[in-house]
Amino acid sequence: MTEILLTTLIIMVVLAITIPTLYGFMIGAPILFSPKKVIKEVSRVVEFRRGENFYDLGMGSGRSLIAADKLNLNVTGFELSPVIYWLAKCNLFFRGVKKANLCLRNFYSQDLSQADIVFCFLTPKAMERLRPKFEKELKIGTRVISYAFRINGWEEYQILDSVPPGKIYIYVME
Ligand SMILES: C[S@@+](CC[C@H](N)C(=O)[O-])C[C@H]1O[C@@H](n2cnc3c(N)ncnc32)[C@H](O)[C@@H]1O
Repeated sequence: MTEILLTTLIIMVVLAITIPTLYGFMIGAPILFSPKKVIKEVSRVVEFRRGENFYDLGMGSGRSLIAADKLNLNVTGFELSPVIYWLAKCNLFFRGVKKANLCLRNFYSQDLSQADIVFCFLTPKAMERLRPKFEKELKIGTRVISYAFRINGWEEYQILDSVPPGKIYIYVME
């Protein structure tokens, strides 16, 4: 009896972990982390003001949030996979990030109107799906940073190729 209960529990835990992870893979992006230097590099060419709201759509390990926190930004990260979400939580804790808003949520259903800076490392398909949401919700002046993939139909404010293997596409909402 105990064995059956234990096996059922293990199966449920494994499913609870793998289903959201696979779902995130299908609708957003696989679990890959962008190079650590990306945000620092962007801050050389784009002005980030103290206290601005920085959002990472699909925060992964939270490395962009750690970099943004160092620049005195208010950081918010969304993540679909519970395992990755907890990884990010621990990562931020051990890196001394005291104030961060981490959400175990699907970013497609979140309100982005309070963001000043939006960071994405997703797929071309996800950027295509996000584009109308950005156009509807983001305020004028919001900077959108996409690592590796451009947003079709939008004109870049700047493209940086200083953090390979991907380019950094920077947009400013007009
Ligand atoms: C390529 S990783 C990027 C991680 C991080 N932003 C970085 O640059 O290191 C994409 C992340 O987005 C998550 N993700 C994909 N679709 C999502 C969605 N709809 N809502 C929330 N997170 C999502 C994945 O689980 C994965 O951790």
